[in-house]
Amino acid sequence: MKDFVIKGHLVDSESPDRLRCLENGYLVVTDGLCRGVFPALPERWASLPLADFGDRLVVPGMCDLHVHAGQFAFRGLGMDLELLEWLDTYTFPEEAKFKDLAYAELVYDAFVSVLRRSCTTRASIFATIHPEATLLLMEKLEASGLRTLVGKVNMDRNCPDPVREPDVATALRTTEDWICAALSRFQHTRPILTPRFIPTCSDALMEGLKGLQRKYGLPTQSHLSENYGEIAWVRELSPDADHYGDAYDRFGMFGGDHRCIMAHCVHSGDEELELIRRNGVFIAHSPESNMNIASGVAPISRYLAMGLRVGLATDLAGGSQESMLRAMMHAIQASKLRWRLLDERVAPLTAAQAFWLATAGGGEFFGKVGRFLEGYEFDALVFDDSALLHAIPLDLPSRLERLIYLGDDRNLCAKYVAGQRLF
Ligand code: GUN
Ligand code: FE
Repeated sequence: MKDFVIKGHLVDSESPDRLRCLENGYLVVTDGLCRGVFPALPERWASLPLADFGDRLVVPGMCDLHVHAGQFAFRGLGMDLELLEWLDTYTFPEEAKFKDLAYAELVYDAFVSVLRRSCTTRASIFATIHPEATLLLMEKLEASGLRTLVGKVNMDRNCPDPVREPDVATALRTTEDWICAALSRFQHTRPILTPRFIPTCSDALMEGLKGLQRKYGLPTQSHLSENYGEIAWVRELSPDADHYGDAYDRFGMFGGDHRCIMAHCVHSGDEELELIRRNGVFIAHSPESNMNIASGVAPISRYLAMGLRVGLATDLAGGSQESMLRAMMHAIQASKLRWRLLDERVAPLTAAQAFWLATAGGGEFFGKVGRFLEGYEFDALVFDDSALLHAIPLDLPSRLERLIYLGDDRNLCAKYVAGQRLF
């Protein structure tokens, strides 16, 4: 791997609340790792090749902590229903189509090319229940240069036949075969265990998945406390559980001994939040999806103040956009309406906090990722905002804030993942 130096306006997060900005700074990359940022280039690296990005902004790559590749074909459509009806009406029929590999080829090709061109450098992705189509998606992601976790979805109850595992034994065998194939074939596209959510996963399936989690040391991902109807249903399905999170935890599928992402957590109560904190579960905040299917708005500044691990997510196709810039904008806007209309004790998110969620907050799930600190993997985006005309000179925090609202992939002129330049 080539070592190099980047020069430009460097912006990353110092903390969830504070940006760290360095104008005309130097960033040294060796073996794919960041060696730190410097106001002047230290002599010992003076001979490395220099990529001079001039007046452009260089920020850490963004991590989409929750996105459904199998829903890409209906993004921006079918936003007229709440979660449970939305799943039955649009989502399950769409996901059933991935039994057909020719269909999967078409959709996953489009999904991966859009993701590669986007601000996302890492992602945790749901495929569908189909192992062959999931491996096809993983093949395309591996070739893209992105670093991802991908889950073959598991579900064996309360869903139509075409998206239901025939029985638990078959589900576990198919899932284990998929895990082994993925582990042997891909280096940067890794399997993540993916029980869809409690309503579609029997106790026996959850127990079996825990066995696979332990055997292969895998991370897990699922959905939690997204919608009122869903939460009431889980209460009926798991009457002995203290809360929705406990319905996962009693199977050992809620972090603690492994890395775990729970999407949404819009309506989590205090006990559930305490377990999330204790088990180090990552919350994938998906603001646009939570607005589109009318789930609500999660109190994210409260979660940050509690020291919970929170990242940002698009949740395609509950969300319509793959853009993490738009996800930051939606997180800020949703938090303001929540503050004004629901609870003025939970402050709206700032641009610096939204940026933390998109970079360092979600990045931590992938290791030393999401900041320009020594020893961190070098994932970076270079933005040219010169086309976003402004009448007066702006400082770096203002330029970043404008990109959140006005920027898109056309402003993204270079992208690095783990030290490798994708474009
Ligand atoms: N809960 C269970 N499945 C899904 C899904 O596909 N999308 C969302 N937003 N929530 C879910
Ligand atoms: Fe989701």
